[in-house]
Amino acid sequence: MATLEPSGPLLNVADYALAAAARIPKEAFDYYEGGALDELTLRENTDGWTRLKLYYRVLAGVAARDLSTTVLGQPVSLPILVAPTAFHKLACEEGEIATARAARAARTGFILSSLSNTAMEPVFAQAGSPRWFQLYIYKDREVTRALLQRAEAAGAEAIVLTVDAPGLGTRERDVRNNFQLPEGLVVANLCSLGKGGLPEVQGSGLAVYVRTNFKQDLGFADLDWLCHSTHLPVVVKGVCRGEDARRAAEHGAKAVVVSNHGGRQLDTAPATCEVLPHVVAAAGDLCEVYVDSGIRRGSDVLKAIALGARAVLVGRPILWGLCVAGEKGALRVLEILRRELDEAMLLCGCAKLSDIDVTLLHP
Ligand code: FNR
Ligand code: LAC
Repeated sequence: MATLEPSGPLLNVADYALAAAARIPKEAFDYYEGGALDELTLRENTDGWTRLKLYYRVLAGVAARDLSTTVLGQPVSLPILVAPTAFHKLACEEGEIATARAARAARTGFILSSLSNTAMEPVFAQAGSPRWFQLYIYKDREVTRALLQRAEAAGAEAIVLTVDAPGLGTRERDVRNNFQLPEGLVVANLCSLGKGGLPEVQGSGLAVYVRTNFKQDLGFADLDWLCHSTHLPVVVKGVCRGEDARRAAEHGAKAVVVSNHGGRQLDTAPATCEVLPHVVAAAGDLCEVYVDSGIRRGSDVLKAIALGARAVLVGRPILWGLCVAGEKGALRVLEILRRELDEAMLLCGCAKLSDIDVTLLHP
């Protein structure tokens, strides 16, 4: 882990990562940064986007660019949404409230994790739109139902069901660090349900929490249950195969997220840039397709759209922004990505997102 802070202004996401590493304790940084086992997928995700090359178009007569689009019919000013990530109070005191405000200021979507350090009601009260709730299915159906009903009452506009974590991938950094929430921080949405604390154990407290509480035998019947239990649109996050995506859409998902959880679950899963075209081909006619994992530059976003994604999610970049400067830092990261995407569109000859297509990736 690099500990040298960049000396000048923070120009890009990588600068924010370096600055973040110098600002929060090592155990917290390792939790945010780390991946499963050998972290091969973690590295492949970023390498994959980097490997793709852009055969830009010239003399395209592009002046102003329009980065706006919609997700599930809701307008966003750029195709970059805030991914659901746990425990934002490890980054800054305001935690998830800062993140929600940053997304609102950037006029884009915000997805709140089930495992937030701030209860969903005050967070959604500060969020703009789209504001979506990410759901983990607990073994105890009543706990899951309670989370869902609270999210609806608190103003969530969609439910993002994460399906790639029936158990937690082993993050060896967390095992070595005996990862725990510091004194005073809780799994806020679960406090009233008796599941608000990580157990004090040797190794990763989060791994034991997940093993104890999350439903392992997650199946399409759980997706059916969710779709029948809510009037909100359901997004399925964490797919790696076209056939799974198609089946999810047939079972009622309005969108899927091609994701390997940022390389934190099954190590040696393929980079999401390799999976995305297969999912778009298999399910793109039935539902919207988003992608995350390893997006660090605006040009990565352009490549994801070229491969058929409607929008991307960013996880760690937002956390780095929060570590550096709370709400302002997270907003600054979103604005950096916006500027980079805008520049990549100009230089590729694209005036709007619908001008971006797969031919830009081929000679
Ligand atoms: C996550 N992710 C995640 N996903 C989810 O559905 N619920 C969650 O609570 C979390 N928690 C979480 C914590 C941390 C620290 C990270 C880094 C990630 C996964 C997240 O939504 C997203 O899929 C990845 O972060 C995308 O990869 P990048 O952008 O971080 O490379
Ligand atoms: C993580 C879980 C909480 O990736 O989603 O840490």
